[in-house]
Amino acid sequence: KPEFKVTLLGAGGVGKSALTLRIISGVFTPTYNPTIEDYYRHDTNIDGVGPCIVEILDTAGTEQFASMRQLYISNGQAFALVYAVDDRASFEEVKEIYQHITESKSPQNISVVLIGNKCDLDDRREVETWEGQEAAKEMCNSQFLETSAKEGTHVFKFFETLVMCLDGR
Ligand code: GTP
Ligand code: MG
Repeated sequence: KPEFKVTLLGAGGVGKSALTLRIISGVFTPTYNPTIEDYYRHDTNIDGVGPCIVEILDTAGTEQFASMRQLYISNGQAFALVYAVDDRASFEEVKEIYQHITESKSPQNISVVLIGNKCDLDDRREVETWEGQEAAKEMCNSQFLETSAKEGTHVFKFFETLVMCLDGR
């Protein structure tokens, strides 16, 4: 079985763990527990790819653990850059993370999917959909999706997109 490795990066509280748990177990937890580092081996079957194992690295977004980021970037190949649509600062942060990625990796060697999570919170939106689309274009034409871990919107599609990017190389 082919194995793929994906790394979720983004500010604290944007929903990286919620997205991961949705993928792994299909549930949503409303409580917030800041992550230090979580690693999963997910045995799955993806359309167009088939049975495969996806290693998911769910990283810490909060400042005190952000020093690990450089290591995740060096060791990673597919990155989900996650912000929350109700948090403009988190949108600025994914752009910074992308800059860091390009400083240590060439665009041909990486796959990036930009994710605007919490799209269920439309009434509290601080980042418009078109802004996400523009940012993704500037990230070497990366794919872009708005997701909701709470409602399940586009969560599996996001996961599939990341793995398919990797499978194509
Ligand atoms: P760190 O581990 O600190 O980096 O945070 P994180 O990015 O893993 O965030 P986490 O998944 O823990 O979610 C933070 C909070 O946002 C939790 O209370 C979640 O329940 C909530 N949350 C996550 N995704 C969504 C979403 O799609 N919609 C809504 N409304 N809330 C969400
Ligand atoms: Mg987390």
